[in-house]
Amino acid sequence: MVRVGIVGVGNVASMFVQGVEFYRRSPGYTGGLIHANIGGYEVRDIRVVYAIDVSRHKVGRDLSEALFAKPNMVPRLVELPETGVVVRMGRVLDGVAEHMVEEFDPSDERQPALEELAEELGSHSVDVLINLLPVGSREATGFYAEVAARAGVAFVNAIPEFVASDPRYPRLFEERGALVLGDDIKGQLGSTAVHRALASLVTMRGGEVVESYQLNVGGNTDFKNMLDQRRLDSKRVSKTMAVATTQPAPERAADRIYAGPSGYVPFLGNTKVSYVYVKASGFAGLPVTIDLKLTVDDKAMAAAVLVDVVRLAKALAERGVCGSPGWASSFYFKHPPEPARSDEEALSTLYGKLDELGISIEPRRLPDWIWKRG
Ligand SMILES: NC(=O)c1ccc[n+]([C@@H]2O[C@H](COP(=O)([O-])OP(=O)(O)OC[C@H]3O[C@@H](n4cnc5c(N)ncnc54)[C@H](O)[C@@H]3O)[C@@H](O)[C@H]2O)c1
Repeated sequence: MVRVGIVGVGNVASMFVQGVEFYRRSPGYTGGLIHANIGGYEVRDIRVVYAIDVSRHKVGRDLSEALFAKPNMVPRLVELPETGVVVRMGRVLDGVAEHMVEEFDPSDERQPALEELAEELGSHSVDVLINLLPVGSREATGFYAEVAARAGVAFVNAIPEFVASDPRYPRLFEERGALVLGDDIKGQLGSTAVHRALASLVTMRGGEVVESYQLNVGGNTDFKNMLDQRRLDSKRVSKTMAVATTQPAPERAADRIYAGPSGYVPFLGNTKVSYVYVKASGFAGLPVTIDLKLTVDDKAMAAAVLVDVVRLAKALAERGVCGSPGWASSFYFKHPPEPARSDEEALSTLYGKLDELGISIEPRRLPDWIWKRG
């Protein structure tokens, strides 16, 4: 069993919990999963046992109801049985932006101390705590990361605030014998994964990316929250560097790459539309232009990766891996501590390291010779 705690019972949490229930009810069906089995764990072995939020609409309610409380908008994919997990009040800090007060509607319940939450993670036997706070929650992310470290619990940082890739935190986790994976989930077939694939293709075929942008629009609270430009610094760095690191000189490439949230279009709901433009120079310096439009369910993209990452975190923790193992984050996150030039490189490194640790991962998405060559 992989016992998971969630910070931020929003739309990603709703898709994640419903997705786990979907696969639990479909034994043998593994369509849409990146890996069916990691370290002996299947998706149906994931159980959410603890949840924190600050919204009046969610705190105090059973998770099975809170996941559908406003402003969440992921539709009901499966009937969720009552979980017995009552959403607990957290610490607001900078989680709720001024322009989001009406949507998130913070509760005036007493806000707990760090030690209190750390103790609860222990008493609920949480293995992995996932951070799903709104973009720009720098202080709140630091707070919950410290809660996890204090409790010796693995921390999965799904958002673009830097924890796994900031040298201060891994030391904290290492001291407590725990690990942190992050930062900023890279969706299954989201705009970053596709943009990176295009940019690495250009390089692999002997071209050079001259300039590129990625414009994203969506209609959920994630996009509405990102209307406040002051909350976006690390989001831009995370998305831009995810593409720039596919290039031979990432820092120089970053000057000619723009990638970030670009607009809130309410009627889109959880549908995210991305426009990716790549101008490359090819044979004899002649130009090549790629224009691509990508349409995805934003939350399914994140949940598909999270079901892998929580099982990976549990398997690594069982083998005593602690701190911030960069190789474990490169395939799954946009801003990992050790970026890879391509997803193929990241995945082959991951397979090689898991083999060394004796952790199984199936099915392998690359032919044997690729990860065995190193
Ligand atoms: N494809 C994706 O969806 C994707 C990819 C990468 C990263 N992310 C990131 O994941 C995060 C979650 O996304 P989402 O769509 O679920 O967001 P959301 O807006 O639906 O949910 C955020 C939740 O956090 C709660 N919250 C706010 N402040 C809090 C605090 N201090 N303590 C506890 N809870 C608090 C809110 O009440 C809300 O329930 C965002 O930062 C998003 O950018 C999402």
